[in-house]
Amino acid sequence: MKKIIVTGGAGFIGSHTVVELYNAGYEPIIIDNFSNSQKSVLAGLQNITGSAVKLFEGDCCNRDLLKKIFTEEENIDGIIHFAAHKAVSESVQNPLKYYRNNLNSLMALLEIMQNYNCSNFVFSSSCTVYGQPDKLPVTEVAPKKPAESPYGNTKKICEDIIEDVIKSNAELKIISLRYFNPIGAHASSLIGELPLGVPDNLVPYITQTAAGIREKLTIFGNDYDTSDGTCVRDYIHVIDLAKAHVKAFEYLNKQEDKTFYDVFNIGTGHGNSVKEIVETFQSANNVNLNYVVGKRREGDIEKIFADVDKATTLLNWKTELSLEQALIDAWNWQKALRK
Ligand code: UD1
Repeated sequence: MKKIIVTGGAGFIGSHTVVELYNAGYEPIIIDNFSNSQKSVLAGLQNITGSAVKLFEGDCCNRDLLKKIFTEEENIDGIIHFAAHKAVSESVQNPLKYYRNNLNSLMALLEIMQNYNCSNFVFSSSCTVYGQPDKLPVTEVAPKKPAESPYGNTKKICEDIIEDVIKSNAELKIISLRYFNPIGAHASSLIGELPLGVPDNLVPYITQTAAGIREKLTIFGNDYDTSDGTCVRDYIHVIDLAKAHVKAFEYLNKQEDKTFYDVFNIGTGHGNSVKEIVETFQSANNVNLNYVVGKRREGDIEKIFADVDKATTLLNWKTELSLEQALIDAWNWQKALRK
């Protein structure tokens, strides 16, 4: 079995990707410092996969830890790098925390890979690099816009670092996946999103409100230039997103050049407004949601959704799960947390 290191493998997207790697016959090895995830995820993973997933607890900025892992584990086929801080508002309050962690971890990993002749690397990027695109759906050739937050800037700078390393002819094969908005949970309700504290993101806020943990959802603005005035995003089921990583790895393994880099949008190709998400959540789950319309949130863009032709054609990947399914799975997961 090919070993793949999954940094941040206990996190939301990381844990679902661990499952899909396992299903595809790989041996995932997690590096996680549990700074924004919980150890209970490991039990969920063991339950789903039927085997204990190997874990190295620690920080992937820690070069000694990386050296130990590469020495102990022979023949590592590659790395999928999820571990990063991701709270937009916290990044505005504490930018150095974001730059230090998100940039250092990337650099440490790319360095260790070269030292141990490990070449395949998948980087978690974000549609945030596009800002508000001029044309929709947005394609991978759209210009990158100045970031709205230090968090967004770390994603942009990480992509720049990767491009420069590739230009230097380093023997690395890299794909950056630009995620749109991942939502949902595993159908088993054994793993899902576990935000610490008050959630920033829409769907965990909705499920916590429906569960009575939050009093009401505030829709941030209804005066945007969209069909119903609320912002539009491309919401993708986390399982579909996780599967894109397996496809990305297969694609990297097919590349014959020693140095390779490409970027792919990973979304559904459809935009949905915040109101549509709220309404679909209510109808799909037959629950009522307490919500009000409030002011716009600073830094929000009006409308974005992906052109996914490139991933469909080159990675042979497409989404299989609906928005309804994602919102049902998210709600089932929230209910499972209460038990
Ligand atoms: C945000 C980040 C993005 C990051 C992603 C991580 C910004 C500008 N972008 O995406 O860079 O990759 O999180 O998951 O912050 N909403 C409400 N009420 C709420 C929460 C959200 O109306 O309580 C609305 C937002 O205004 C937005 C939509 O829901 O229109 C989605 O918000 P969110 O889940 O925070 O994701 P993004 O802002 O798209």
